Amino acid sequence: MEVWGVWKSFGPILANEDISMDLERGEIVSLLGPNGAGKTTLVRQIYGELRPDKGRISLLGSKPSDSSVKERVGVIPQECSPYDDLSVWDNVYYVGKLKGVKGEVLKERIRSLLTGLGLWERRDSLADLLSGGMKRKLLIAMALVNDPELVILDEPTVGLDPESRREVWDLLNQLRASGKGILLTTHYLDEAERLSDRVYFLNRKIVAKGTPSQIKERFSDQYDVIDYTTGRTIRVSGDKVKDVISKMSGKFEVRLPSLEEIYLEVLSDDQRS
Ligand SMILES: Nc1ncnc2c1ncn2[C@@H]1O[C@H](COP(=O)(O)OP(=O)(O)O)[C@@H](O)[C@H]1O
Ligand SMILES: [Mg+2]
Repeated sequence: MEVWGVWKSFGPILANEDISMDLERGEIVSLLGPNGAGKTTLVRQIYGELRPDKGRISLLGSKPSDSSVKERVGVIPQECSPYDDLSVWDNVYYVGKLKGVKGEVLKERIRSLLTGLGLWERRDSLADLLSGGMKRKLLIAMALVNDPELVILDEPTVGLDPESRREVWDLLNQLRASGKGILLTTHYLDEAERLSDRVYFLNRKIVAKGTPSQIKERFSDQYDVIDYTTGRTIRVSGDKVKDVISKMSGKFEVRLPSLEEIYLEVLSDDQRS
């Protein structure tokens, strides 16, 4: 998947400014940014629901609007819910049928997806009766039923309890390991940091990109040195770290500041410029 110089406005609102990005198979890439940053607008163009005003997008070698490519992509839009008056199992089953999955393959896939997402026991419940978190997971199962090559998830873990969140993360990691490309949007920094091979910070335009550790390195020559003897944390610049720890007698830890601290720094720099 590749995006070149995409611009998108809604009337006077510029939502995406000159965005370029890419995604390979076997990696998880996150679009990270606050509400209103333009994440949903960008992914809607990537899966062909909106057209860019300017710029170009290639999805598995085709245009996003090509119908052939839709079968090879699994999408979970931000505002989306299952069919309330169908059971959990039927929701996945009918989407599978629509996408051309057949017979035993379909049944086996439903079983494995529902089990992996902790929904197997609820397979006969009406979707209407599920909690918000379970509905979200059901949507994920529906998006994956055709075994897509590329998966696009817009805020997949919003409203999930910690356990469900971890189930979704595990599933995304399995998908990556099986060679799929995964694009997700999130405003959760810990999620982006833990899951992603690469991150694009979005705030209308791309304000930073790289692996979580590259971003940490680039945006900060500051390290936190935690002295376990006193329990104190000292923020020091890279060239001073050796000096500081040489003076410590007990155990200590040196770490980079969290992505969260850098995120706030990057966004405030962007607003100033
Ligand atoms: N259909 C629309 N009509 C008008 N404005 C929109 C529409 N969709 C999004 N916007 C505006 O575009 C900006 C980016 O929104 P969005 O892409 O939803 O951000 P995010 O997903 O990062 O929260 C916001 O200012 C939002 O109000
Ligand atoms: Mg959004």
